[in-house]
Amino acid sequence: MIVVTGATGNVGRELVRILAAGGERVTAVSRRPGLVPEGVRHHLGDLADPQSIAPALEGADALFLLVAGEDPQGILDRAASAGIRRVVLLSSQGVGTRREVYAHPARFEDAVRRSGLEWTILRSGGLDSNAYAWAESIRTTRTAAAPFGDVGLPTVDPADIAEVAAAVLRDPGHAGRTHELTGPAPITPRERAAAIGAALGEPVRFVEQTREEARARMLTFMPEPVVEGTLAILGEPLPAEREPSPAVREILGRAPRPFADWAARSAPAFR
Ligand SMILES: NC(=O)c1ccc[n+]([C@@H]2O[C@H](COP(=O)([O-])OP(=O)(O)OC[C@H]3O[C@@H](n4cnc5c(N)ncnc54)[C@H](OP(=O)(O)O)[C@@H]3O)[C@@H](O)[C@H]2O)c1
Repeated sequence: MIVVTGATGNVGRELVRILAAGGERVTAVSRRPGLVPEGVRHHLGDLADPQSIAPALEGADALFLLVAGEDPQGILDRAASAGIRRVVLLSSQGVGTRREVYAHPARFEDAVRRSGLEWTILRSGGLDSNAYAWAESIRTTRTAAAPFGDVGLPTVDPADIAEVAAAVLRDPGHAGRTHELTGPAPITPRERAAAIGAALGEPVRFVEQTREEARARMLTFMPEPVVEGTLAILGEPLPAEREPSPAVREILGRAPRPFADWAARSAPAFR
């Protein structure tokens, strides 16, 4: 049995679907109820309270773990006691490129590496689904606002992360590996807005925000160091953050999906 935390999110929902469709027994974990495929057990639990996750872990072989809460050790100790042998952590590319800003996921990585379990770490670049932040403005005014409109980054489709996670959860060959996951090529915010317009069949106007405007908006839902780190990645990405990674192709035997694919599948959210 495989336990998937974050099971109702962009990555987790798809991961649960793939595992269940492949015949795995799955326990889906999130804090609030959510729709899961038939035959999948749902467990309400909060990673910030490791004891609340413990009942989901009983009898499981593998755990897909999100970075959430402050006590990765508490979660991993309970996983080991429950008999789990393998853990796959969804972390961030920033741990490799800007460790001082990404100290929180870095702590989760350190705990996973020391856990004594078979571990694999997936370091994701920015997700295509971050464009859901534009859903309301595109629905209502066909506009999309972002800073650094012409700076490209190889954002990654959450469905590719899910497919890689499913492969890695089932294949012991990835034990002890850290995979960096990106999309196929850098794409700018202006190009992402245009791709959503193409998926809708109507143009979407891109509005370039100043750094200060973007910072003020991001501070409403992110802590300040993370806002600064995110703005630095979006505005002045390091060569390692611009470079598409070969890992999706190596693991899945096909190229990562382009942003246009995500936009086409997600178009209903923008209509
Ligand atoms: N967005 C990016 O660009 C990016 C880049 C690199 C890495 N990541 C990582 O990827 C992860 C998944 O992204 P996503 O887009 O799939 O996230 P998402 O759509 O926001 O979904 C998060 C999922 O986790 C659950 N969850 C959140 N906090 C939880 C907690 N304390 N305990 C238990 N469940 C919890 C949510 O359900 P409930 O709210 O009901 O609990 C939901 O199922 C992120 O958490 C982040 O660490 C994201």
